Amino acid sequence: MIKKDLTFMIESIAQPMKKSGEVEFPVNQLIQQRRSRRAYADKPVELEKINSLFEAARWAPSSSNEQPWVYLYATKEQPDLWNKIFDTLEIGNKIWAEKAPLLILAMNRKTFLRNDKPNGSARFDLGAANALLSIQATELGLNVHQMGGFERQKAIETLNIPETHEPTVVMAIGYPGDVEELPNDNLKERELAVRQRYTQEFFVMNKSF
Ligand SMILES: Cc1cc2nc3c(=O)[nH]c(=O)nc-3n(C[C@H](O)[C@H](O)[C@H](O)COP(=O)(O)O)c2cc1C
Repeated sequence: MIKKDLTFMIESIAQPMKKSGEVEFPVNQLIQQRRSRRAYADKPVELEKINSLFEAARWAPSSSNEQPWVYLYATKEQPDLWNKIFDTLEIGNKIWAEKAPLLILAMNRKTFLRNDKPNGSARFDLGAANALLSIQATELGLNVHQMGGFERQKAIETLNIPETHEPTVVMAIGYPGDVEELPNDNLKERELAVRQRYTQEFFVMNKSF
């Protein structure tokens, strides 16, 4: 088994993994349009749109239909709560996320409700729910930017997260804004760069290792 894995790796090294900004095969427009922007317009997100985002997450598939996701959201109109989530972010995220009118702390329950055993799929399921939420946001003209760069322990303490749950990702959400208003050239360049992905030949197989 190890030998076979090695062969695969050597083949990959011999053939450098290519990225492309092109869609290789037809996909849904919303998948093509979605991107993790950093520039936000100075415009609040309407409550009915916030509700639709969570409705999209609600219908995500999950292991044993456990739906282990829990979302704590705060708008800028709730400065105390918004700041508590914002304060958990790493500095590299704070510099642009400060303009986001909506922040969400996405958590997952660590164990199955039905038997209290560890749920090995909980983060996976949360990721699926976040993906649906992001696609719904794209349809509503909103941008979602997920961030793993935040202090989990701080979130646990300042937001009183119970031991049964873990904070997994923070999402900055809002309407796309003016790229020129981003605080530095590096962020402006990243915002305008073509999104790139490895081509399918590097992650799709039709034969065993
Ligand atoms: C779990 C997760 C954690 C991420 N953490 C960060 C982060 O801390 N800071 C950041 O700027 N982007 C973060 N991102 C965004 C990714 O960098 C982004 O999705 C990736 O570069 C692809 O770009 P796209 O979403 O525009 O297609 C994160 C995305 C995910 C899914």
